Amino acid sequence: MSTASASAHPNIAFIKYWGNRDHELRLPANGSISMNLAGLETRTTVRFDGALAADALVLNGAPAAAAQVARVSGILDLVRGMAGITEFAEVTSSNNFPSGSGIASSSSAFAALALAASAAAGLQLDEAALSRLARRGSGSASRSVPAGFVEWRAADTDEESYAVSVAGEAHWDLVDTIAIISEEHKAVGSTAGHPLADSSPLQAARLAGAEQRLAQARTAILQRDLAALAAVMELDNHLMHAVMMTSQPALLYWQPPSLAVMHAVPAWRAEGLLAGYTLDAGPNVHVLSAAADAAEVAVRLGKLPGVLRVMQASAGGAATLA
Ligand code: DP6
Repeated sequence: MSTASASAHPNIAFIKYWGNRDHELRLPANGSISMNLAGLETRTTVRFDGALAADALVLNGAPAAAAQVARVSGILDLVRGMAGITEFAEVTSSNNFPSGSGIASSSSAFAALALAASAAAGLQLDEAALSRLARRGSGSASRSVPAGFVEWRAADTDEESYAVSVAGEAHWDLVDTIAIISEEHKAVGSTAGHPLADSSPLQAARLAGAEQRLAQARTAILQRDLAALAAVMELDNHLMHAVMMTSQPALLYWQPPSLAVMHAVPAWRAEGLLAGYTLDAGPNVHVLSAAADAAEVAVRLGKLPGVLRVMQASAGGAATLA
């Protein structure tokens, strides 16, 4: 019997992952770049026990649904295979942020699971191997393994597709102010959405420019150039949502309050308040600004119609054993 615990932060992508070149292996259609979100975290404990008859999963204090257990067992099977063990595991996981907040909890969840499960099985995986393992549970989880500002490179093989830190969390005092517009679970989640990407006639055009946008975002991060990051982040965001809107069936994640934020942020920029926005597969809007402007951004977002509340996070560190 052996136990280990780990914690990881969710992340917000500046350059988005949408579509896979291999769904089974979660090899992404394009590379992506994100920032870990400090203060928000998933904490997970894995206990392998020869007395268990099956894997068990407790999520935020309650037994998880069968589909969630199966997704976790998929990662545990990979770990058992690497470690040469056969014991089932009990997995206990909780988030310190609301699951309906539109924060991608699968990113922190599978990063923490990969680290806790591999350590409990006696494996000492390096960062790249951990990122690859987390990727198999949720693509964006590959980016929650390394620290700070992170790039997940697209590749054709399992061995080559992992995430690396572009800059640590102390590199840049950016703050993500999240405008919560809906606490409901989205109708079509990311896992169901990725296979639809290729049904959009716009996906090919989006992919054709991805390398250039990745390079621009990487440079903007290294130079702490928020104006440049905002420009490429908003372009990349519009391209992803254009693909979503033109896939079959169409995925339209924006709600009227999302659009209100998307109109307000460029107007604030014109007035001298520098910020940029991005949305994942849901209506909530992430607004990135300098830490010095974050309080003002929060006040302004809170006054917009349909914004229920705001949450804030600065850049967070790597997944850690805890
Ligand atoms: C829109 O990583 O959540 O947030 O691999 O099926 O779990 P699965 O998908 P996921 O997709 C993330 C999509 C996104 C953009 C991003 O985070 O890059």
